[in-house]
Amino acid sequence: MASPINHGVVKLAVGEAKLSTIPIPKIRDGYLLVKTAAVALNPTDWQTVDEENPPSTPPLLLGCDAAGVVVEVGKGINKPWKKGDRIACIAHGGNEVEPTDGSFAEYILMKGDIGIHLPDHVSFEQGAAIASGINTAALSMYSPKTLGFQVPTFPIQQSSGEEKFVLIYGGSSASGTIAIQFAKFDAGPLLYVNLLGIQNPRSDVESRFMLGYTASGERFVIEGQEWPASPEDFDLAKTFVALSEKLLEANLIKNHPIKLMEGGLGGILDGMQYLKDGKICMLFEERFAHSETLASSF
Ligand SMILES: NC(=O)c1ccc[n+]([C@@H]2O[C@H](COP(=O)([O-])OP(=O)(O)OC[C@H]3O[C@@H](n4cnc5c(N)ncnc54)[C@H](OP(=O)(O)O)[C@@H]3O)[C@@H](O)[C@H]2O)c1
Repeated sequence: MASPINHGVVKLAVGEAKLSTIPIPKIRDGYLLVKTAAVALNPTDWQTVDEENPPSTPPLLLGCDAAGVVVEVGKGINKPWKKGDRIACIAHGGNEVEPTDGSFAEYILMKGDIGIHLPDHVSFEQGAAIASGINTAALSMYSPKTLGFQVPTFPIQQSSGEEKFVLIYGGSSASGTIAIQFAKFDAGPLLYVNLLGIQNPRSDVESRFMLGYTASGERFVIEGQEWPASPEDFDLAKTFVALSEKLLEANLIKNHPIKLMEGGLGGILDGMQYLKDGKICMLFEERFAHSETLASSF
């Protein structure tokens, strides 16, 4: 291992996060130890800092998206990983049950079976920026608990010609642009994907809520609420990641536009404040309207 020292952005108390020296996480079955090359920031990162936790909660590593290089392969992983592989994956930052999970550190754990093998033409920054978008699209559109669409198969088949529509509310967000790309492969008959927690204004449209953390297949607790392990969400995430790897390789999906922040790990705290202040907004270019997703590389 290159260095026995690790640094990460941890939540120390409600409203307080700090770049700290932390241990290298102990590898658990099903996990890889990864040397991080880039991370991406999500609204949930600063929201997690502001959430209440029980009084005895230890410091919690933050961050949900990262890309890097595999340095150690744990037991019980079905996907073929080896030292030196390039990977992007989601992590569960601020996890009270597993406080060393999270992506904002030099050395982190990634769940091997839902890690994305990064093709050479996809940079670490792009990989970090797409991981949670892929996971969110999977669980919000393809689970029977949400929209229940059929997971597309690769190579992508042309649609049957039957006219189908899906409305993705918040389509300009980083998650939204990934969801739109998948919806184009196989739109289903239901109409509403709301990623922004906006009150559904229509009584004739059913709302269903998902949390991307269930993709790990492990139980967790958020704000006192227990989320039991969901083996079926883990299975869906595995299937979807395998599909996404092929789509990335074939250049059929791409990440949301990136705003690269400076300062490495130390820049993450500024990035979280940037998001909290609502400074991410839609930019207009000649042909394309988009917002940005924040990435930090080191
Ligand atoms: N439940 C889950 O597991 C899960 C997973 C991923 C994301 N999410 C949620 O999905 C949302 C998007 O996440 P993200 O990472 O993709 O965020 P993001 O890229 O940071 O989203 C920024 C974009 O959201 C748009 N926006 C803000 N308020 C809006 C509103 N009221 N109506 C329509 N658009 C609005 C902004 O558009 P303008 O520039 O036009 O203001 C901006 O372009 C967040 O609320 C996040 O918490 C949930």
